Amino acid sequence: MSEKVIVELGDRSYEILIGSGIRELAKQSDLLVTDSNVDKYYGSWAETKANCKYIFPAGEENKSIQTVADICRAAAQNRLSRKSVMTALGGGVCGDMTGFAAAIYMRGIDFVQIPTTLLAMVDSSVGGKTAVDIPEGKNLIGAFHQPRRVLIDTDFLKTLPLKEIRCGLAEIIKTGVILDENLFAELEKAPETLTTAPDYARYSSIIRRCCELKAQVVAADEKEGGLRAILNYGHTFGHAFELLSNFTLSHGEGVALGMCAAGEYAAAEGIWSKQEALRQKKLIAALGLPTRLDTAYKTGDVIQAMLGDKKSASGKINLVLPTRIGHAEIFKDAAAGKIALAVESIYA
Ligand code: GLY
Repeated sequence: MSEKVIVELGDRSYEILIGSGIRELAKQSDLLVTDSNVDKYYGSWAETKANCKYIFPAGEENKSIQTVADICRAAAQNRLSRKSVMTALGGGVCGDMTGFAAAIYMRGIDFVQIPTTLLAMVDSSVGGKTAVDIPEGKNLIGAFHQPRRVLIDTDFLKTLPLKEIRCGLAEIIKTGVILDENLFAELEKAPETLTTAPDYARYSSIIRRCCELKAQVVAADEKEGGLRAILNYGHTFGHAFELLSNFTLSHGEGVALGMCAAGEYAAAEGIWSKQEALRQKKLIAALGLPTRLDTAYKTGDVIQAMLGDKKSASGKINLVLPTRIGHAEIFKDAAAGKIALAVESIYA
């Protein structure tokens, strides 16, 4: 059984199909891009769906303009034209780079996303953000380029390590907190069936709901002029924690801790109830994600790192904060002293 979500963007609208075995619906691609890890498991299958395959070494450190240039060169060497289609088979790094290569090769060709991680399934494969990192920061070079189709095959979750599942769960919790109390309440039931003993049918409907909510946000504000920024809930604190940990914290762990800090900030401001902030913390812990910072980073360093985030406009830190479970708003120019107190309150 498959589930379908449409991202409504006029003549660039596209469908997201979700379910077990969905990858078999992929049409023949002109160039399929994947990483060395995914290729080990799914490389032979990928070859049945593509005229040629480009494999880059797995890892965020390879999310570079050089790899995108190499993908474009592979496209040119294999004579891809303006009518050709690229396919991303992999996690967020693969989707972001293939999407960016498709955005710039011959000034833009079509691409299809086949995400293999939970995080990519519920977030990065939907919405058309494509980018690479440079030494000055993550995702600083990129383009908005929507895929033509997203095929989410829940069977990929069967080979995904639990740590990666938890990364995706952090984004799913985020979606519940900012947009849908029912989704949040669903996550509170039987946490082991989402972690140590995954129920993949349950995952199908959770992924569908996340994609539906994200599709609505993207349709309303494709280029992040306003509303779309709420998807960054937990990320401004989270990116700072990731950076200060030298990326020993995963993105999911950073976002989980970021949501805890943002929750403390919102509760201290009186815009969110302490009970709901605690409910969020309990869910994060129940799904095996951290709620306390093991290292007490200097709050000045956290603030500097938050200011370095590309979402911080003209030296000011804007925060996405919940006002109830299922609703969040953007608060401009957060006070450094209050940020420091929120961070200190999650030290172990
Ligand atoms: N990952 C946040 C966004 O797509 O806007």
